[in-house]
Amino acid sequence: MFAAARALSRHCRIPRPCPAARCISSSAPRRSDALFVHRDTPYNNPKIAFEFSPENLRRAQEIISHYPPQYKKAAVIPLLDLGQRQNKGWTSISVMNYVANLLDMPPMRVYEVATFYTMFNREPIGEQFVQVCTTTPCMLRGAYDILDTVCGHLGGIKPGETTKDGKFTVIEVECQGACSNAPMMVVGDDFYEDLTAETTRKVLDAFKKGDKPKPGPQSGRHTSENSAGLTALTEKPYGPGEHCQPEFA
Ligand code: FES
Repeated sequence: MFAAARALSRHCRIPRPCPAARCISSSAPRRSDALFVHRDTPYNNPKIAFEFSPENLRRAQEIISHYPPQYKKAAVIPLLDLGQRQNKGWTSISVMNYVANLLDMPPMRVYEVATFYTMFNREPIGEQFVQVCTTTPCMLRGAYDILDTVCGHLGGIKPGETTKDGKFTVIEVECQGACSNAPMMVVGDDFYEDLTAETTRKVLDAFKKGDKPKPGPQSGRHTSENSAGLTALTEKPYGPGEHCQPEFA
C-alpha cells in the first residue's frame, strides 16, 4: 500500500510529509494568501481615498433601490463589481470600505464577500486581464497548450503574473461555462473560443496593438453549432399535409 501511495505522490506536485498520504489533487499549488490576508502597502491601504464617480454613484443608487431598505446589503456584490471596474480592475481595501459605508455594513462583512469570490482581484492587474480556462473540457482540448502559448507570447510570464509593461495579467481559471467552445480564454469581459495556439497569438497580438479582436469562436463557427456540419434539418421541413399516407391522400 505504501509503495502505491509513494508512486501516487511522485505524480503529485504538492509535497507530502507522509508517504502513506493519499493525493487528492494533482493541481499545481498556488499561493492564495493574497485572497484572504490584507497587509497595508503604499498602493493598498485605507488612507487612499476612493469614492464612486457621479455616474457610478447613480448606478449604485439604482441597484440599491431594487432591494427593500433593510436588505440593501444584498447589493454588495454588484457594488463591489462597480468599484472594481472604476478602480482599474481590482478591489482595494478602500473600495471595500467605501462599499461597506454606502451599505451600512460592517467592513468585515464586505471583506468576507470580496475574499470569497475569486472574481474580485485583491491586487492590481494589467490593462488586459487574460483568464485561461483549464477545467476538464478545455483541458481535454488543449487548454494547457493555450496557457503555455499565452504565457510564452507575453514574454514568459507565469500564471498570476503581469507583464513588465503592465499591459497583461494572466491567470488560470475554472470553467467559464463555454465548454462547447473549448478551449477558451476570457480577456476583459469577452470570451475567445475554439482557440488554437495560432489564433491565441493572433488575439493577443491584436490586443498588443491596441485593437479589440472579434470575440467568440476563432474557428469560423458562428456560435456553438456542430463543427461537423448539420445533422438535422438538412432539407426543407415539410409543411402541413405534405407527407400524408397514400391511403389518406
Ligand atoms: S471547461 Fe472551459 S469553459 Fe467549461
